Parts: sequence; structure tokens; C-alpha cells
Amino acid sequence: VEASGAPDPPSMSPADVLGFDPFDPDFLRDPYAEYRELSERGAIFRTRGGLLVATTHELCTALLRDPRFGHGSDPLDRRDPGQPVESFLWMDPPDHTRLRALVSRAFTPRMLERLRPRVEAITAELIGALPEEADLVSGLAYPLPVMVISELLGVPPEDHEQFRDWSDTLARSLDPMLTEDLLSETGRARREFRDYFRGLIAIRRERPGDDLLSALARVEELTEPELLATCVLLLVAGHETTVNLIGNGVLNLARHGLLRHAAERPRQVVEEVLRYDPPVQLTGRNALEDVELGGVPVPKGTPVLGLIGAANRDPAVFPEPDRFDVTRDPGRHLAFGLGIHFCLGATLARMEGEIALSALAAAAPELELAEPAPPYKENVVLRGLAKLPVRLSGRA
Ligand code: HEM
Repeated sequence: VEASGAPDPPSMSPADVLGFDPFDPDFLRDPYAEYRELSERGAIFRTRGGLLVATTHELCTALLRDPRFGHGSDPLDRRDPGQPVESFLWMDPPDHTRLRALVSRAFTPRMLERLRPRVEAITAELIGALPEEADLVSGLAYPLPVMVISELLGVPPEDHEQFRDWSDTLARSLDPMLTEDLLSETGRARREFRDYFRGLIAIRRERPGDDLLSALARVEELTEPELLATCVLLLVAGHETTVNLIGNGVLNLARHGLLRHAAERPRQVVEEVLRYDPPVQLTGRNALEDVELGGVPVPKGTPVLGLIGAANRDPAVFPEPDRFDVTRDPGRHLAFGLGIHFCLGATLARMEGEIALSALAAAAPELELAEPAPPYKENVVLRGLAKLPVRLSGRA
């Protein structure tokens, strides 16, 4: 049997496709309660739309590690006409292997360490500018990662505003089930973004700096379309994910009265936020051949979702999984994925999260939530707040 890939989105509701309704207010408030119910019904289940959904740590791990699962023709078809070369996030070996290795050559630990003082300076500036009653999403969580990626890629300060506009639009392209309007909007942003970078690459080839773009431009085996697709990928994969790490982090720390821990043990705090309330809630693969997963036959072409948000609360791996415990060892969480597509920006994301949360805890240890249940964005893949109103009384 060869499944024909993803069902036609307009004829099915998101709940039919996914097996849960990602826009239900109860789900947005607490998806983990629903995941628990789903996993109690089975480690893997089939949705009305014909997708398989893995709910346990064991099966999500198997899905991400097994080379018989990959992208093939993408189940959640995100291709758009304005995108001639895909980023390697959606590729399988050997193309993925080649491109990821080339990009990793430029994206080095040394480059990141050089960035650290800039991340600290940008964070301090943003926190310093926060009013006493502030929205931490628009005031800190949102601008920090986009400014950091701008710096990383060597975008001149005068272009940061424009860069942020493209980023806003492109960030939405991670979600499946895009509408026609959104598709044409993201297509336009992608084209403008690419034109801009084509110009910037030409400048950096003449006058290289110590930024990532200059380093990537020196990698001779990278073609220009591949280089441009990589810039888009770094922006899309690295922006809203990190926004949500910071937003979800502040919310959970404030709710549990644990903010001071972020100043004392930022590394552990960030790992527990990533486990407990991961920015990326799910990811998908296709069966590249007939396979079995958790005892269920998976015919070639079947799309399979791995629920990262559920795997990170799997009681078989994390004792008392629903307890937000910043002293635990959250070692095996899947927030950055696993296997060949493991997040290339994990070190950078952790650095940003640790700096943002610890600086905020040091500057405003008495921070209080101004709304006990702030609203979430209606996203499928990403979980993050639309805003996070806080009171920064007694700021240091
Ligand atoms: C891949 C999560 C930040 C760049 C991934 C994947 C996850 C993830 C789950 C794997 C997707 C899959 O297997 O289908 C996150 C989270 C972040 C974050 C939770 C923030 C807290 C970043 C940053 C960058 C970045 C800051 C770069 C600036 C990438 C790239 C990939 C990736 C390039 C593709 C890797 C590949 O396909 O080989 N990320 N990410 N990410 N991420 Fe991140």
C-alpha cells in the first residue's frame, strides 16, 4: 500500500489531521493534559487524516534516529514557488549531510563565543529600556534573537528593522496548513530577503568581516542559492523558537516563584524550561520505505508526527514529569530534536536563553505576572506567548 502523503488541508480540519485541535483554547492553555490522554490511549495512533502520531519518548526517539524515516516528499508540504532551493532542514542524506557539514564548518563554537558579549550587551540594553509595566515578549523575548541573528550574519544596524519585518513573515512558514494569502506573503518576503542577502554577500566577498555570512561566503563548495537558503533557514529556525524559550521560561519561572534560580543556575533552568514547555512541540517525517513503529506497520509514504511536547513529559523517562523542577537532570529531553537533524543552533539558543533569563532575574528579582494566564499564539509547531505582561517593581 502506498499512501498518497498528506491529506488535502482545506478538506480536513486541523483536528482531523493531527488528532487534536491545536487552536482549542483549553489545548493552548495546557497541551500537556491532552497529550497525556493521547499517550494513555497508545504510544502511537492514527488520525482521521491518515497521519500516525508517536506520543512516547521511545517512539519519538526511534522516529528521529531511524534512517528509514526522512522527508522524501514533505508530508506537510511547505514548498512555495518563490523558493528554488530548499534548506537542509527538509532534506535527506546525502544532500542533507553535505550541506549541513559545509554550514557547520562556518558556524563554529569560536564564532559563538565571540558573539557572547554582544548577546549580553543587547540583553542589558533591552532590559534597561523596559518600563515598569512591560510586555516581555515585545520588549525582550522577540527582539533579542532577531538582533542576535542579525549580528551573527553581519547585517548592518541600519538594516535591522527591515530584517525584522522579513523575519516576522518568514517565521510563520514553519507551520503546515498555510493559507494561500500567507503563502504568497511568505513567498514575497523570501524573495526580498534573498535579494537583500545577494547584495550583502557580494559586499562580504569584497570586504570580509568576522561574521557568519563572510565565513559561509568563503566556503567554496556552497552555491549561492544554497547559501541564500541557509540564511533564510537560520532566521526561520532561530528566531521564534528562541523567542518562545525566553517567553515560556519567564512565564514558568514566575508562576512557580523560581525566577531567582535563573540567576543562580541558568544552565539547569534553561534545560528544564526546554523539557517542560518546549518551543517546538512536534516534528514530522515520512516513511521512506515500509517500516514498523511501535508494532504498527507504517507503509512507505506515511507521514508520522513525533510529539516532542508529549515525549518530554513521558513518565518512563522523567519522574514526576508534570513537575517544573529546576533542580532535576533533564538530560534526555527532545526539545532540540535528535539524530541527523539535531538543532544546529542549540548552543546559540542555550546561550541566549541563559543570558536573557539570568539577566532578567538579576535585574528584576521581584518580577510579577500582570496577567495570570497570558494569551498564546495560534501556532501548530511552535508554542509561544502572544504577549507576557509583567510588573518589574523593585528593579535592581
Ligand atoms: C533544527 C529546535 C534555535 C537552527 C531544529 C530541530 C528542532 C529545533 C526541534 C529539529 C527539527 C527536526 O528534526 O525536524 C530549536 C529550539 C530552539 C532553536 C527549541 C530555541 C530554543 C535555533 C537557533 C538556530 C537554529 C538559534 C540558528 C541560528 C536550526 C537549524 C536546524 C534546526 C539550522 C536544522 C538542522 C538540520 O536539519 O540538520 N531546531 N531550535 N535553531 N535548528 Fe533549531
